[in-house]
Amino acid sequence: MKKIRIAIFASGTGSNAINMIRFFENHPSIEVGFVLSNKSDAPVLNAAQALGVEVKCYDNKKVADGDFLVSLCQEHKIDWVVLAGYLRLIPTKLIEAFPEKIINLHPSLLPNYGGKGMFGSHVHKAVIENKETESGITIHFVNQEFDKGKIIAQFRCTIAENEGVSDLEKKIRYLEQGYLPTVIQNTILA
Ligand code: GRF
Repeated sequence: MKKIRIAIFASGTGSNAINMIRFFENHPSIEVGFVLSNKSDAPVLNAAQALGVEVKCYDNKKVADGDFLVSLCQEHKIDWVVLAGYLRLIPTKLIEAFPEKIINLHPSLLPNYGGKGMFGSHVHKAVIENKETESGITIHFVNQEFDKGKIIAQFRCTIAENEGVSDLEKKIRYLEQGYLPTVIQNTILA
């Protein structure tokens, strides 16, 4: 039987992409079809390739072309797209072709600290500056507006008074590594 196929989009280190690749490596019904990046020097590309996953790299102009991304996903029989540290806007045509089938990981408790410019350490910096006592991760469907699609799951961590940006970043990565693959699996198989 054909497995359900995921495309992972990632722009950087790819710790989440790699964690998902490992999780789905011998999965009975889900597999990673390819990893796409908009950055040719993104460490995720070599790391994914080393694990035997097909990688694709296109410039920002190409990844803004919805028709191109739709045919690429169709060619590779992709059923779901997961954005793991992917920093470009998803073209409307791809969203329309994959309704509630594109999932994003965001390193805050949305709707707080979401939207344009809120990515990576910018998020954690803002959270710490505002003296928040908790933060967390949000896994959500992607719609036309940055970080505003329906929330699938959230996981929280507390922030102590003396904690800095890098402490928070570690806690967020711990949540991401622990929860993202299973949430993806459960959402796909629901
Ligand atoms: C993660 O914190 C993710 O939540 C955010 O960007 C970071 C990407 O990390 N959107 P990595 O590339 O998966 O290591």
